[in-house]
Amino acid sequence: MAKIYKTSCFLIVLLTLCIYGNAQQNQQCLKCHGQVFYQYDNEWTGKVDKRPMNPFYHIDSVKMHISVHKEFSCTDCHRPDYETFPHSGELRMEEKYACIDCHGGDDNFAKYNFEGIEQAFMESVHFKANDDKFNCWMCHDPHGYQLALRGQESIKDVVSLSNQMCLDCHTNKFKFGLISDEMPKDIAETHNWLPNQPNHFENVRCIDCHTQVQSDLLVSHKILPKEEALKNCVKCHSANSVLMESLYSHRVKESREESGFINAAILNEGYMIGANRNLALNYVSVILFGMLLIGLLIHFILRLTIKNKK
Ligand code: HEC
Ligand code: HEC
Ligand code: HEC
Ligand code: HEC
Ligand code: HEC
Ligand code: HEC
Ligand code: HEC
Repeated sequence: MAKIYKTSCFLIVLLTLCIYGNAQQNQQCLKCHGQVFYQYDNEWTGKVDKRPMNPFYHIDSVKMHISVHKEFSCTDCHRPDYETFPHSGELRMEEKYACIDCHGGDDNFAKYNFEGIEQAFMESVHFKANDDKFNCWMCHDPHGYQLALRGQESIKDVVSLSNQMCLDCHTNKFKFGLISDEMPKDIAETHNWLPNQPNHFENVRCIDCHTQVQSDLLVSHKILPKEEALKNCVKCHSANSVLMESLYSHRVKESREESGFINAAILNEGYMIGANRNLALNYVSVILFGMLLIGLLIHFILRLTIKNKK
């Protein structure tokens, strides 16, 4: 008994040290990259210099702490030489890992189908127009990516996290400018044909209109040319809404297992015009109406016979 107790104490201490160690190591980088200003000892003048941190090199430690790679230390992805400051100029040439370098061919991550995602991404407008100047990190912030569809409770949070990945660039001329010489077009303006456009953007993902459902991927990655985007209202606002296979696909599977009721997935999240048409309810209302007619008929006959007797 005592032995088990001792071993588990040892393991707990070890784990704490590991996590603390990582945090401690990251702290070393975050004391500059987590701040608006950074300081360093100037060996030439013997003074302490205070300088502004380039906002693009600023890392949000809170976001990092809830990201899928929260257990990582900075130097798992960046070279350990970054521990010295000033950083050597050569370091900016460092080759960055791609997702597939770590996730490819790994059974632990098979459910995501990274290979399939990469294939679809290579057929997207972004990759076709820019080749590998556009890579996975352009949408998946290396210091803050959280799972949306698999990770969040409410559909609104899923939509918001997912859309932010597109809007971070499509509404930011500096990020957009890394890829294109043109200015990004105003997204609100190019989508003003949608009634109550802000409400749509809170309830439906960009990728629900800009990709086609792919059965082997939970999140389709082939962004289509704009001419092929979904504009047909009825595709969403109908009983067999396309959203059942995309945004709600995850919930549909769960709610079918729980209650056998497909549209529960949407109804749980609120009301969507047209989506909550239910065949069973239609039958019930026809039967009720039939019974009402029969009732009226009986009432009429009885009234007639009683009147005739008088
Ligand atoms: C004393 C402050 C300071 C510390 C500590 C520090 N950095 Fe930096 N880092 C900077 C500044 C300033 C820049 C931008 C100028 C430059 O590249 O030197 C920068 C740039 C970078 C860049 C971008 C280089 C490029 O041009 O693309 C990376 C990556 C980076 N740091 C990683 C790290 C990592 C990882 C650590 C911890 C192991 C770390 N830094 C620690 C101040 C610091
Ligand atoms: C999961 C891998 C990963 C981890 C962990 C990671 N980085 Fe990065 N980092 C990257 C990649 C990839 C890029 C290049 C992004 C790009 O090209 O868009 C990058 C870019 C940067 C940049 C340059 C800014 C930019 O957007 O190009 C800085 C600064 C930086 N990282 C600092 C850090 C610090 C500090 C930590 C730890 C707190 C850290 N990174 C942890 C993968 C990582
Ligand atoms: C340096 C290696 C490395 C790179 C590069 C990397 N990952 Fe990871 N990733 C991991 C490891 C290891 C884990 C498991 C972390 C854990 O369990 O705490 C992980 C976890 C994840 C998870 C959560 C998996 C789960 O089921 O919990 C997702 C999603 C993910 N990564 C996506 C990506 C994406 C997208 C990219 C590229 C934009 C990427 N990763 C790049 C190593 C990496
Ligand atoms: C144009 C933007 C964009 C690019 C580029 C991109 N992704 Fe994604 N990715 C998304 C969005 C949006 C989601 C949905 C977020 C969610 O539900 O977690 C997502 C989700 C994912 C997921 C989680 C899927 C799941 O089944 O839960 C993985 C894994 C992933 N991407 C990997 C990659 C890899 C690998 C690449 C590069 C080959 C890549 N992504 C490039 C936008 C992008
Ligand atoms: C309800 C469906 C729908 C949603 C949601 C949607 N789009 Fe679109 N988007 C379209 C259609 C359709 C077009 C083509 C517009 C046209 O033909 O007038 C388009 C056009 C675009 C264009 C090209 C604009 C141009 O004229 O060059 C971009 C970029 C774009 N969308 C990005 C986004 C982003 C980012 C989001 C999420 C914040 C988003 N879209 C959400 C349907 C949608
Ligand atoms: C890092 C910046 C960046 C991110 C992130 C990004 N895009 Fe784009 N997108 C561009 C640029 C730049 C173009 C202009 C065409 C080109 O050069 O690729 C573009 C073009 C488009 C177009 C128009 C294609 C056409 O036919 O003209 C659509 C639609 C689009 N993006 C949708 C999305 C969606 C949806 C997401 C999120 C899943 C997203 N983008 C994420 C930079 C980005
Ligand atoms: C990609 C799927 C999709 C497409 C395409 C789509 N919608 Fe919607 N629409 C939704 C969702 C999801 C909601 C949010 C329901 C809610 O408010 O809970 C919504 C909400 C609405 C609302 C209520 C808005 C409000 O003011 O509260 C109206 C009206 C509407 N849509 C009309 C349209 C019309 C007209 C079109 C075609 C031009 C269209 N929608 C295209 C998914 C879609």
